[in-house]
Amino acid sequence: MDGNGRWAKKRHVPRAMGHREGGEAVRRTVKACRKLGVECLTLYAFSSENWKRDESEIGDLMNLMKRFIKSDLDDFIANGIKLKLIGDWHAFEPEIVAMLEDALERTQHGDQVLAVALNYGSQQEIARAAAKAAEQGDVTQDSIAANLDTADLPPLDLLIRTSGEVRLSNFLLWQAAYAEMIFMDVLWPDFEEEHLQAALEEFARRERRYGGR
Ligand code: FPP
Repeated sequence: MDGNGRWAKKRHVPRAMGHREGGEAVRRTVKACRKLGVECLTLYAFSSENWKRDESEIGDLMNLMKRFIKSDLDDFIANGIKLKLIGDWHAFEPEIVAMLEDALERTQHGDQVLAVALNYGSQQEIARAAAKAAEQGDVTQDSIAANLDTADLPPLDLLIRTSGEVRLSNFLLWQAAYAEMIFMDVLWPDFEEEHLQAALEEFARRERRYGGR
């Protein structure tokens, strides 16, 4: 969900406003996924590298997250959303951890997955999974995959990055092995259902061979 900062800069408003509009884009996109039948949506909300940002920006993001859970949790439950978290989210402040645990519990019967990557870094995730596999005495491709945070999620089919950046920035590196990637010029706060629709159409046109012919 890249481009909140640039969206704000273009309008000469504080970065926090860009993140707030990014939150609106999250709401729209979750709704659009439900409408278009996307089984699982994973959003990169806070990376393990985002701790390098100013304390005030981190505080803004944490407050936004708290407000989002308070305002949208009932709507998620009513609409069959099942929350899933990936990353080392237990490192967040206790109040947020408690809110997230409550949200996980209350959305557990949903049938459409919204996975949120929080304090997430893919290299760290792979290292953790490999260490667990080693502890279990079996380090193979399958045992590492089974210990990733995403083990119970469907395979990653399509990865979309907004704002024109063409890199993965430590997101789902293992899972993206055969994913189709789409890089869009739109800044995340401007992301609308039509962008998702266009990405899904492009995805449908791609021929996936998984290394075969
Ligand atoms: C990247 O834009 C965006 C983030 C670091 C934060 C994304 C978080 C949200 C949209 C908050 C809401 C999320 C949930 C799940 C409630 P950037 O700041 O790196 O933008 P830039 O590249 O233009 O500087």
